[in-house]
Amino acid sequence: MLLVIGWDPVTMETIWGLDVNCLVIVSHQVFNQAVTAAPANRPVHSVSDCRDVEQLLAVLARAGVDLATVTHVYTGAEFLLVPVAVLAQATGIKHLLDVDQALLFRDKALQKKRIRSAGLRTANSQVIEYGSLMGPAPARFPYPAILKPVAGASTVLTIRVESPDDLNAVYGVLNDADAQQAAYQLEEFIEGDELHVDGIVRGGALTFFSVSQYTKRPFDCRTGEASGSIILDAGRSAQVYEDVERFTINSLAALGLREGVFHLELFRGASGYVFGECAARPGGAFVTQAIKLKFGVDLSREHVHSLLGMPAALPRSCPEAVGWTLLAAPPGRIIRMPSLDDVLGRPGVVESSLDVKPGGIMPDMRQGSSCRAGLALLQAPNKETLAGRIDDLVAWFYEKTLVTPLM
Ligand SMILES: Nc1ncnc2c1ncn2[C@@H]1O[C@H](COP(=O)(O)OP(=O)(O)O)[C@@H](O)[C@H]1O
Ligand SMILES: [Mg+2]
Repeated sequence: MLLVIGWDPVTMETIWGLDVNCLVIVSHQVFNQAVTAAPANRPVHSVSDCRDVEQLLAVLARAGVDLATVTHVYTGAEFLLVPVAVLAQATGIKHLLDVDQALLFRDKALQKKRIRSAGLRTANSQVIEYGSLMGPAPARFPYPAILKPVAGASTVLTIRVESPDDLNAVYGVLNDADAQQAAYQLEEFIEGDELHVDGIVRGGALTFFSVSQYTKRPFDCRTGEASGSIILDAGRSAQVYEDVERFTINSLAALGLREGVFHLELFRGASGYVFGECAARPGGAFVTQAIKLKFGVDLSREHVHSLLGMPAALPRSCPEAVGWTLLAAPPGRIIRMPSLDDVLGRPGVVESSLDVKPGGIMPDMRQGSSCRAGLALLQAPNKETLAGRIDDLVAWFYEKTLVTPLM
């Protein structure tokens, strides 16, 4: 039996479509949604927090599940990688990552140290534990720098600081801001474009990868910009693909990822490529949808196939330029906004999803790169037209959305 932890409707559709017996544990907030989506004979259980190994083991025991019958455990959720690896290791159930590896893919300090010792370029960094927030900020660090949670996601609580004074001013806020963070990490600020590489690794070999360029850096969410990315064409950007392939193979080897899918972020500056970070799961937002459209490869399906030892997909490339974008709106209560059909009717839009609706609250997009009004997947005959369509769509959506600011 396959045990799935965490809720992702798209991946669950794949899993429920496979001929495997499976049981799902989700958090209580999405329980109704999961039960409604589940086929009749597929059990769904809930806990208050899927990161809590005690709750996971207890819900299985209460359901009378004999762990000896559970062969594999799957999660695609960033924050569940380590707890699921711990559960798998403690029970002998097969998982894609052991605990040490899962930690490497969660903790930015451990990951950068491993990359650095393999001789690959990455930002200088220093961990700031909670205890040291009492003392002065490091003066000798190369500024400007980025301060961020050591095991965060989606650019949350990520701040640029120009000097030790700047950092000292932020310290007080961090101390009481979000104590849920394990620690913070100070990193030298890397200039340049930001790219992401998404792919499949099977038996230690890179069997497929795609290179995309962010239209706006995820960090630009701090100024309210809508991030997105465009897949680079392997023919038109042959040199980039060649350089990035080597960089990716070396990074994955350093991190010991031999089986599964990955989402690797890197900077491209004047003096070459610099490692940003690497996740052992499919990319977020519409990254998976874009790659499926461009190459016919569904990375969330491939993630499950890797765990179950099923064959990897063979890519085929479509000639169209493909990309995705966040849809942006100002924060506040939404009075009116375009409908899904309106968005789907705009030039080049292939797929869209909206996260907010009239009467609801539009969050402040400066909080993080996954804060959004919605997402859109677009295509065009070439990259330049696609970039124009993305800009036009984002501007049109913003202009058509009316909100009243919250007091
Ligand atoms: N050292 C750095 N130099 C420049 N920009 C950075 C640096 N670290 C992070 N960023 C920016 O912040 C974003 C989020 O940081 P990242 O390390 O990818 O963490 P996460 O995606 O888990 O929040 C990056 O995509 C990038 O735009
Ligand atoms: Mg990132």
